[in-house]
Amino acid sequence: MIVLACETSCDETAVAILRNERDLLANVLHSQVAIHKNYGGIVPELASRSHVEQIGSLVDRALDDAKLTLSDIHAVAATRGPGLLGALLIGMTTAQAIALARGLPFVGVNHLHGHLLSCDLEAPMRFPALVFLLTGGHTALYRMEHERDAVLLKRTADDAVGEAFDKVAKLLGLGYPGGPFVERMAQAGDAMAYDLPLPKPRDPRALSLSGLKTAVRRHIEAWEQPTPTRIANITAAFQAKVGELLAQTVDEALQQHVDIVAVYVVGGVAQNKVLKAALLAVTTKFNLPLYCPRPSLCTDNAAMIARAAIARLRAGEHDPLDQQPLARWEVGRWLT
Ligand code: KG4
Ligand code: ZN
Repeated sequence: MIVLACETSCDETAVAILRNERDLLANVLHSQVAIHKNYGGIVPELASRSHVEQIGSLVDRALDDAKLTLSDIHAVAATRGPGLLGALLIGMTTAQAIALARGLPFVGVNHLHGHLLSCDLEAPMRFPALVFLLTGGHTALYRMEHERDAVLLKRTADDAVGEAFDKVAKLLGLGYPGGPFVERMAQAGDAMAYDLPLPKPRDPRALSLSGLKTAVRRHIEAWEQPTPTRIANITAAFQAKVGELLAQTVDEALQQHVDIVAVYVVGGVAQNKVLKAALLAVTTKFNLPLYCPRPSLCTDNAAMIARAAIARLRAGEHDPLDQQPLARWEVGRWLT
C-alpha cells in the first residue's frame, strides 16, 4: 500500500509518500519560519498563502524523490485538524482533488494521531504504550492500546509546553520559535539560581504551566537589565522545572499503569535534551525503554500523517471527498 499525504495545519507545508508502515519513499517540507519570525508568531493569512504557493511543487518533488507517478499511489491523505482552518483547507483540497481525479480513497487525518505514531515510522511501537505528546499547541499524556486506540490520561489546562518555551523566549527577546533558543541559552546557566514554583492543579487530569511562566515573567520584570548570566540562569531554571513536571507526570502514570511496556515522547519539544534526560531518569527507574523520533519526525511532517492514514486504511476506514477541516479536534478518549 502506497500513500501520499499532505500536512498544512500550521507553518510547515509538507508532503510524504509512505509504502506500508515504515518505508518512507519521500518526505519533503517547506518551512515558513522565515515568514513568521518577524511577527513573533504565526500569521494565519500569510500561512495559507504560502501553503497555496508551495503545495503543488512539493507534491511533484515528493513523486520525483520516490521515482513514482500518481498512478502508483493507492490512497491520498491530508491533515484534517486541529490547526488553522485556512491552512488545513489547502492540504485537504489538494489531497481530495488528487483522490477525485484518480478515483482513490481519501483519509482526513488527526494531526495529533500522526504525532502519536511518529515513533512507529522508525520501529514498530510496543503496546500498551505511554505516549507524551509535547508540541507548540498540545501537551497531553496518552495510554495507547494499539495504533488506533489512544486513551487520554492528562492534558494541560492552560499553556502547552512548547508555547511556554516560546513565551519565555519572547519575554527575553531570544527569537522564534523559542524552544531551541531557550535550550541553547540554558546550557551556560545555573538551574538553582532561581526558585520557581510548580503549581499543581486540583484536577488530577490537568497539567498546568502558566504559573511557572508567570513566575519567570515576574523575575524578568524585576531585573534592572537582562545580563547574559541572568538569561542563562532563568532559562536553565525554567527548563529544569518543566523537566521536573514532565518527569513527575510520567512517574505517576507508570505507578498507576504497571502493564506499560514502553514510553514514547513525541512532538517538537521532544528534541530538548534536558527534558529527555529528565524523562529517561524515570523510565530507567521503572526499567522501561524511552523512545523519541529523530528530529525531522519530532517537528511537523507529512510522514506521520501518512502513517496514521495507513493505520486507518488497514482498518477499512476512509473519508468522504467533501470532508471539511476542523480547527479543534481531540484524539482519543478520556480514561473512565
Ligand atoms: O511539533 P511542533 O513542530 O509543532 C506543533 O505541532 O506545534 O512543535 C513546535 C514547538 C515550538 O513551540 C518550539 O518552540 C518547540 O516545539 N521546540 C522546543 C525545542 N525545539 C522545538 N522546545 C523546547 N526545546 C527544544 N529544543
Ligand atoms: Zn504538530
